[in-house]
Amino acid sequence: MSDQTLLAIQDLSKVYPNGYEALANVSFSVQAGEFICIIGRSGAGKSTLLRCINGLVPITNGSIQVQGTDVASLSDEQKLLLRRKIGFVFQEFNLVGRLSVFQNVLTGRLGYVNNLQALFGYFGREHREKALSCLERVNISHRANYRADNLSGGEKQRVAIARALAQEPLILLADEPVASLDPELSWSVMADLRKVAKEEGVPTLVNIHDLDTARQFADRVIGIAEGKILFDGTPAQLDSATLREIYRNDLSNPTSRYA
Ligand SMILES: Nc1ncnc2c1ncn2[C@@H]1O[C@H](COP(=O)(O)OP(=O)(O)O)[C@@H](O)[C@H]1O
Ligand SMILES: [Mg+2]
Repeated sequence: MSDQTLLAIQDLSKVYPNGYEALANVSFSVQAGEFICIIGRSGAGKSTLLRCINGLVPITNGSIQVQGTDVASLSDEQKLLLRRKIGFVFQEFNLVGRLSVFQNVLTGRLGYVNNLQALFGYFGREHREKALSCLERVNISHRANYRADNLSGGEKQRVAIARALAQEPLILLADEPVASLDPELSWSVMADLRKVAKEEGVPTLVNIHDLDTARQFADRVIGIAEGKILFDGTPAQLDSATLREIYRNDLSNPTSRYA
């Protein structure tokens, strides 16, 4: 493992309590600065993979190392601290609707204040400045005082990206971040996500169902089908036979496109 390796996943398997194996022997590692899109049809295991990485679901087998440390070896408290350094962007934004945009982004700073400050929502000047600069980075600072639930979908997702950035994350994970947005908007939000990830040098994993979006933005594509990695390479290396394997019977990414 090189010292640029932020994340190393080895033989990861996930079996849900009902016995369904959603991931089988998944291995890959992620270097500083990489922008990776994970593609696959619905049910392939993309969300399960991201949830395993940030500890939202327990893994069944294998290992996940972040900066050389096996996550399984951490105490519960250390796991919580680690999770606060992993930015997560959801398809449905997951903002607190009754709070302002600014307050939502400040919650990204929770890992940097003590418990009492967190309890009373007290964030000192450096945290407020950081939150504002994150909003500026995604061109949404003019909405800082709006209630989050008054924003459009594209604006909400920019705020969610700003909140993840405010965490000063080691890794950014985004689960279908633009699937709820119309196509034109989805490309501009993806472009902003890629821009900030590259500026910060934060390695980023983005689950994307749509192949064209993945090809447009990824440095590297990982293709998953039935819980297994079928492809790991550059967008240019993706050939039509591989795409047919990944997207078998997927009507929203019809195989006729790769013929
Ligand atoms: N909590 C769960 N219990 C049992 N099966 C699950 C659970 N969550 C997801 N699955 C199954 O695991 C598979 C992968 O799901 P998911 O990771 O959500 O795929 P994707 O994000 O690629 O659509 C699917 O077949 C799904 O039905
Ligand atoms: Mg999913």
